[in-house]
Amino acid sequence: MSKLLVANLKMNLTKDEIINYKKVLEESNIDNIIICPSSIHLPFLLSDKYEVGSQNGYFINKGAYTGEISFYQLKDMGINYSIIGHSERRNIFNENNGLIFNKLKSCIENNILPILCIGENKEERLGSKTIDVINEELKYIPYDMFNEIIIAYEPIWAIGTGLIPTMSEISEVLTYIKKILNEKEKSVKVLYGGSVNISNIKEICSLDNCDGVLIGGASNDPNNLINMYNEVK
Ligand code: PGA
Repeated sequence: MSKLLVANLKMNLTKDEIINYKKVLEESNIDNIIICPSSIHLPFLLSDKYEVGSQNGYFINKGAYTGEISFYQLKDMGINYSIIGHSERRNIFNENNGLIFNKLKSCIENNILPILCIGENKEERLGSKTIDVINEELKYIPYDMFNEIIIAYEPIWAIGTGLIPTMSEISEVLTYIKKILNEKEKSVKVLYGGSVNISNIKEICSLDNCDGVLIGGASNDPNNLINMYNEVK
């Protein structure tokens, strides 16, 4: 089975760049790719050639929540995936595990498949606390409601830094996540994220228990994304 590539475009690209992004992808042979642009760009990227996901959403379907976009509205726009609990949401926008739980629940209710990001910061890694952090963050998954889950293991210190854990460190965490979710009899895809690029994608994707990758900076250029796809297809 081909590896799943999720592109997190974060708060990047202009409308014209997004329109070009779609054109480049539609002319390529990609498969099994989810593109997550800024919310304002979602409608410009929709295509039957690849999937589109949001980077966030709000857990109440409708009401007086100025500035928010609900999962209910996202689903109505044809969005089937959403990144949840990215470390930039947790750290810059103070999202805690309680809010993340509500978002997961709302995704499920609206038939959106969440891509839940979990991972340790530098101090936690140095203090050998990685598995404790993973356990704490997984505690908030509403197991009973899921049929399928995508988990992205993203060590916070690896995001946008060019640093990545060793392959055996990545493998250890991916295997651990799979093991505990499989015990709950869930069909789970586990991705790695954090400074994935053209030089390391093949090695990361060849690890046992790695179902794919979540790519930030290296996905801003669609040709780069296609090159990465070709490395692992
Ligand atoms: P990066 O970002 O690939 O630029 O490190 C990954 C992410 O934040 O999901």
